[in-house]
Amino acid sequence: MDYQDNGNPKFWCDMTYNFESTVDRTLTSSLKWDLYRGQDIIPMWVADMDFKAPPEVLEALQRRIEHGVLGYTLPPEVLTDVLVDRMKQFYGWTVEPQWIVWLPGLVVGLNLACRAVGQPGDEVLVMTPVYPPFLSAPVLSGRQLKTVPLIQDQGRFVVDEAALRAAMTDRTRLLILCNPHNPVGRAFEKQELDSIARICLERNVVICSDEVHCDLILDDIQHTPTASLSSDIAAKTMTLMSPSKTFNLPGLNCAFAIIPDGTLRRRFEGVKAGIVPNVNVFGYDAALTAYTRAEAWHHELLERLRFNRDLVEQAVAQAPGLSMNHVEATYLAWIDARALDLADPKAFFEKAGVGVSKGADFHGPGFIRLNFGCPEATLRQGLDRIQKAVQA
Ligand SMILES: Cc1ncc(COP(=O)(O)O)c(C=O)c1O
Repeated sequence: MDYQDNGNPKFWCDMTYNFESTVDRTLTSSLKWDLYRGQDIIPMWVADMDFKAPPEVLEALQRRIEHGVLGYTLPPEVLTDVLVDRMKQFYGWTVEPQWIVWLPGLVVGLNLACRAVGQPGDEVLVMTPVYPPFLSAPVLSGRQLKTVPLIQDQGRFVVDEAALRAAMTDRTRLLILCNPHNPVGRAFEKQELDSIARICLERNVVICSDEVHCDLILDDIQHTPTASLSSDIAAKTMTLMSPSKTFNLPGLNCAFAIIPDGTLRRRFEGVKAGIVPNVNVFGYDAALTAYTRAEAWHHELLERLRFNRDLVEQAVAQAPGLSMNHVEATYLAWIDARALDLADPKAFFEKAGVGVSKGADFHGPGFIRLNFGCPEATLRQGLDRIQKAVQA
């Protein structure tokens, strides 16, 4: 990347969208910001970004408000076509329109997936550390949670295939996979995914592949939907996706599952029926506009996130007692603070004025997760506070 003398990347001169201005999110009922209301703590925890949504999306929402009627809403037919085209164009994956099931969020999808497969008491596998709802969904669904730790290999978290095989029993029905992975920031390669999926096929284990971060890959790695690997893997896979992370729309609750196998899809729809609400009118409008008109915004966002990722990696490298792996995808840094031997790393950094996520909640005690989806000024201030705290 080319930098100007002041340290800013050269491409910023050519940027159309504004990722620089800080937007005041206090007193907006923001989950992220309200946690520290009235305190001098920069919230860098839950995974939403401090950037405005693409202006194209905001205009579409304004048009809907001007229309004024906010009735029950169907998924726009064109949105299904857009998704089918996008899967083909972005990932080379041929998806049939009837495979798509709309959802008011991915966490809903994780919980439905656990209920749609097997019986109460059956086992659901997840690889840790992982986004906490992966750990709670099996339990909330009356299933047994089984965890397999990811292992470090040459500065990367990878799947321990032997441990994965060993963890599978006659009661294992489902593996919930996170690709790209929150919190470790891996964008798994095709061959890694293929090995995981083959192990599941051998043991007749269904895969729920959460791919919400699939359009936030910062390195030169092609996202591979697990289900796109082969038709036999597709028949055993439920994919969860959403425009919410890519376009910063998580408060609009619009997501979808792609389930090629008819039996699996009917079970999923069966446990959803009568309980899970439809996506709301704004969610569909935002999704359609984001997927059709906000690609330039998305492109510039990725440049911004790469720059922020580099800042975080440099700061952590210079901070005594902290270390991290390279972040290939997401806007989340998984920082190892174990060398500091802190009783409560989250509380320590809060005291220093930075609100991070607690590693233990992801089954990663001693780690913290830092959200770097924010303007540079906010990020630099947060990193500065972290560095001063560990130096002290
Ligand atoms: C892997 C993963 N899945 C799901 C979600 C949440 O999805 P939703 O807000 O649609 O429930 C997140 C949010 O951080 C996530 O990182």
